[in-house]
Amino acid sequence: MALKVVIAGMGSRGKDWVREVTAAPAFQLAGCSDIDQNVLQEAAGTLNIPQQSCFLNLQEAIEQTNCDAVIVATSADCHTQACNAALSRRVAVLVEKPFTSNLKDAVAIVSLAERQGTPLVVAQNFRYLRAFRTVKRLIGDGVLGRIGIVTCQYYAAPHQMAASLAGLQNSVLWGMGVHHLDALRYVLGKEVTGVAAESFTLPWGELPPGASLQVLLSFADEIRASYTATYESSGHQFFERGQEFYARFVGELATLHVFQRWLILCENGKLPRLVRRGARKLTEERIILDQFERALVEGVEPDCSGRDNLQTMAVVEACLRSASERRWINPQELLNDCR
Ligand SMILES: NC(=O)c1ccc[n+]([C@@H]2O[C@H](COP(=O)([O-])OP(=O)(O)OC[C@H]3O[C@@H](n4cnc5c(N)ncnc54)[C@H](O)[C@@H]3O)[C@@H](O)[C@H]2O)c1
Repeated sequence: MALKVVIAGMGSRGKDWVREVTAAPAFQLAGCSDIDQNVLQEAAGTLNIPQQSCFLNLQEAIEQTNCDAVIVATSADCHTQACNAALSRRVAVLVEKPFTSNLKDAVAIVSLAERQGTPLVVAQNFRYLRAFRTVKRLIGDGVLGRIGIVTCQYYAAPHQMAASLAGLQNSVLWGMGVHHLDALRYVLGKEVTGVAAESFTLPWGELPPGASLQVLLSFADEIRASYTATYESSGHQFFERGQEFYARFVGELATLHVFQRWLILCENGKLPRLVRRGARKLTEERIILDQFERALVEGVEPDCSGRDNLQTMAVVEACLRSASERRWINPQELLNDCR
């Protein structure tokens, strides 16, 4: 029998999840919830959701539908409250990134889920993009040898964003940074041991402080990384639809470049060659839903579990602390302080 899901938050991301759940045979949409009546009605009309499945209150949605799971796609500052509402009723949770707005809340939610024996997954979909999966495979197969240096850069032209993101301080860290920092952990298979960050907005920028970010990172096993991200790359609107991504992985046997959708492998003594990413057989969201199903039905620990995501949240918190205290911060110490 299909697993019954309620989706909380009917903004653009909540609507994406309605489409994903509807396309996944293991799941069935049991209800939708948004605290904003207009948003709820608009989503219901666009996606043909019956009125009796629409709720202004998440608790009511959970109780009336008797659902197995909740997908939390509310604005980020409401994730904690929504996760608690579901987990305290032993209802499984798949929560959008960023998991929470601070590490302490994330630790408390993971321990609630573990006490309740209830699955908790964080939707870090970027780590499953084909480019990142290909990098992970090449590193895992030893093609690059040991990794020494990683450079990662993201540039977006000023663009229309959800008001809940545009109004935030450190928007690029909460919006895009959390994806890339999580993906770096995932592909390297190593945890971060040091962070030195600067979070700022360009002097002519219109967003709150933190629309741009520069971070130095130390990973375990002496991997050094740098990460730059900005929502302020002016004049870039007509290049690659206004977004640019570049990463370089320098290993003892080879250097791997990732530029947009191209991966170029430069092995010692060989001509550079293009590495194919392969077909996109499943959306990244479907990969996450499949993990969620296995967690619910077979009790298999998902690789994007809430517990795994504590490491990503610790890196995000280390970026914030480092930017405000202007010193290196070790995310592992932040995690130890929360235990
Ligand atoms: N993984 C990705 O690629 C990706 C992409 C976009 C957004 N997101 C994430 O998805 C989430 C939503 O993003 P969005 O762009 O749709 O934001 P949005 O602000 O457009 O929509 C959020 C909606 O949540 C509603 N809401 C707030 N509190 C609620 C509650 N307690 N119960 C029910 N609804 C509530 C708001 O009324 C709003 O309609 C954010 O956490 C964002 O970071 C992830």
